[in-house]
Amino acid sequence: MSVEKRPRLGVNVDHIATLRQARGTIYPDPVAAASLAELAGADQITVHLREDRRHIQDRDVLVLRETVETRLNLEMAATEEMLAFALEVRPDMVTLVPEKREEQTTEGGLDVVGQVERLGEYLEALRESGAYLSLFIDPEPEQIAASAELGVEIVELHTGDYCEAAPATTNKLRPSEFDRATELARLEEAARVAHTVGLTVAAGHGLDYKNVLDVAAIPLIEEFNIGHSIVSRASLVGFERAVAEMIEALYLGRQWGEG
Ligand code: PXP
Repeated sequence: MSVEKRPRLGVNVDHIATLRQARGTIYPDPVAAASLAELAGADQITVHLREDRRHIQDRDVLVLRETVETRLNLEMAATEEMLAFALEVRPDMVTLVPEKREEQTTEGGLDVVGQVERLGEYLEALRESGAYLSLFIDPEPEQIAASAELGVEIVELHTGDYCEAAPATTNKLRPSEFDRATELARLEEAARVAHTVGLTVAAGHGLDYKNVLDVAAIPLIEEFNIGHSIVSRASLVGFERAVAEMIEALYLGRQWGEG
């Protein structure tokens, strides 16, 4: 399957570490999962080193830096601690995400508009790491404009609202304030706006094997970061198969979009 015919897939291995941390064992190792993901065709490995270290540990990122053959994308909050860590580890890419201690998972995009000055200084320091810089934002034109102003290379559009509205998610029994078609159109428009100002467009959060199809059909989205659904499927069918099936879904979605 030719890579140009589908968006790139970043496999987020955080929840392999969640399973390990649940028992304080040394297995399963997210480093092993990352290797399997790459063997199955993943284009990138993504990890979120959270302030509370609930899943990924510093050691994981350090070892992944040595073993990842594709591209290592470190998701982190814009804190001084993480800045020092990124400068030491030098990942290929850094994605800044908002972080709240009490949240189950990342709940919303980064408010770039509300902290342009602070983020500008932070990104300037982070540039020393040599990493591509990405901001995880809601699919809003003003957040995209502010991100472009800060000179980052990539914006990752938060697909959470779309996923909550999508009928095929695990949230389907929960009433949703979001309408699927509206949220999809919002993502499509955001991708267009970001592309117009020269940003590479990525997307992620809450995507599964079904709801990803319509988003993969948006031709301007070049990259996806997907974790929970892949790790969940991997626990039943194996990691390589789970990754290969997501790659297949991205391929199918993109073909529909072009057809
Ligand atoms: N992208 C970003 C920026 C994230 O914070 C996360 C969750 O850690 C993901 C993608 C992956 O989300 P999910 O695990 O729901 O696929």
